[in-house]
Amino acid sequence: MEPRWLDELKGWFAEFTNRFFCQDEYVNLHLRLKQEHTARTREQILYLAERLGLDENKTRVAETIALLHDVGRFPQFAKYRTYNDTRSVNHCCLGVEVLHQEKVLESLPPQEQQWIRTAVAHHGRKALPADLDDDTLLFLKMIRDADKLDIFRIVADIYRLHKRDPKSLSFELELPDEPRMSPEVVDAVLNGRLIEYGSLRTLNDIRLCQIGWVYDLNFAASVERFDAGNYLDELFSYLPQTPDIVEAHRRIRRYMDERVTRKP
Ligand SMILES: [Fe+2]
Repeated sequence: MEPRWLDELKGWFAEFTNRFFCQDEYVNLHLRLKQEHTARTREQILYLAERLGLDENKTRVAETIALLHDVGRFPQFAKYRTYNDTRSVNHCCLGVEVLHQEKVLESLPPQEQQWIRTAVAHHGRKALPADLDDDTLLFLKMIRDADKLDIFRIVADIYRLHKRDPKSLSFELELPDEPRMSPEVVDAVLNGRLIEYGSLRTLNDIRLCQIGWVYDLNFAASVERFDAGNYLDELFSYLPQTPDIVEAHRRIRRYMDERVTRKP
């Protein structure tokens, strides 16, 4: 893709996402945070592109994917006032629909359109699909990692605020904030298995699920970045320090150390 197309897409994204701001400050706050998340996810993917040695054109495609990956979040929140896909719509599918309806990708080469569409469509899935070619898979892995790296920052900020003043939170807590953790969630994190969203019952389950994403990071460079932010210790600090949790912390720490020495 020509460099000017990325500039055009940035212009389109700003214009499109600004359409959903309204009288409701609760909606506006969430939309602003998603715009910021998009900008930070672009930074994360550019970091990965450099670490993975992508050429200029593929770096541009990767940045485009980060720019567009959550475009479905804007109509989703404006309409349903939630980012919970199960209670509203799948924001990845909605994103692909937006790209189609707005004819956003039509000037790009077909191969690049396909990379972008597939990455947007699958970035939020629990696991990677099995049948993708190498390049398509690379872009999908990159957006999934870049997205998670910024989500770690967001949730750490939220939990820090929540700890300081539990009442000040302007976000909806989807599940009750109580010490309880579901045994199957603890067990999944202990053994490095992915967690079904349906088995989450408490805020601590959500935290455990987010910690478990470390196992789902695709590149050593992503684990290094996660580590550099000191998120592991911080996220664990919000959980009750039961023997299982202390053990899970130790195992993930060891996994991360091994992962970064076994590059890429
Ligand atoms: Fe997303």
